[in-house]
Amino acid sequence: MRKIIIDCDPGQDDAIALLLAFGAADRLDILGITTVAGNVPLALTEKNARKLRELAGREDVPVMAGCERPFLRKLVTAEYIHGETGLDGADLPEPRLPLDPRHGVDFIIETLLGEEPGTVTLCPTGPLTNIAMAFVRAPQIMPRVKEIVLMGGGWAEGNVTPVAEFNIYVDPHAAAVVFGSGIPITMLGLDVTHKALVGEAHLRQWRALGTPVGDAAAGLLDFYSRYDRERYGVPGAPLHDPCVIAYLLAPELFSGRMCNVTIETASELTMGQTVIDWWRVTDRPANAHVITDIDADGFFALLLSALKTL
Ligand code: BDR
Ligand code: CA
Repeated sequence: MRKIIIDCDPGQDDAIALLLAFGAADRLDILGITTVAGNVPLALTEKNARKLRELAGREDVPVMAGCERPFLRKLVTAEYIHGETGLDGADLPEPRLPLDPRHGVDFIIETLLGEEPGTVTLCPTGPLTNIAMAFVRAPQIMPRVKEIVLMGGGWAEGNVTPVAEFNIYVDPHAAAVVFGSGIPITMLGLDVTHKALVGEAHLRQWRALGTPVGDAAAGLLDFYSRYDRERYGVPGAPLHDPCVIAYLLAPELFSGRMCNVTIETASELTMGQTVIDWWRVTDRPANAHVITDIDADGFFALLLSALKTL
């Protein structure tokens, strides 16, 4: 059993990441879900996480709200992709269970101090505000983290600006703290997530499960795919955040390279760019395993088998 904390901003693709993790209950011990402002404001991301845990019948997993804005910059949200609720496309009931009263950052700190050193993996799928805040507030937790497996950044492209990916762009200063932490990082950025395209055939398979989870997953991604289909003219939409959980479960589906990744925080033009030294043209030490390739068929098979269990 691998112990993880999922730090997220659901968001339809975060939702599928959560369902994939819930569906791997025999392999992943989800210690808690912390939420952050990102795709939609914090009041919605925390509520959405609670809706999803109830959809999956995983009321045992605590959900905490974390930071409601980035370190320095004004919050940027993405309702143009995710809809006003963040989970448009599925009509999930209001959650019955309340939020855990602990602050998300306190939960991250207390959990890392309470668990054996080197046993907890942090899995951020939103802006890195909570994670960085925990490191700034309690730096003694940093050597206790096993590793960070995150969705963010990109070598070759951006999706908010020509060079910046949303999660890093929203809180580049937090990202700079995380990438400067010295903790082992695996980065699943746009290079790989744009190869994990969900299409109509996948949605049909999920609907055919005939379960509330299958219907919700298909509805969410049908809505979410519209933007990408229109914007990029591709047949499917990138399933960014589930790549994080899939990597934990089946790292053999992915490949990449150890590189130095440095976050741009000075230039407004390139703010939030993950400057990746793929060809090792600097002497900056490698600080991240940058993933660029995926066996997409294997990934969707893994996802389908997890959804079947819920
Ligand atoms: C990332 O941004 C968000 O919109 C998605 O949830 C994902 O985490 C992709 O750039
Ligand atoms: Ca996300």
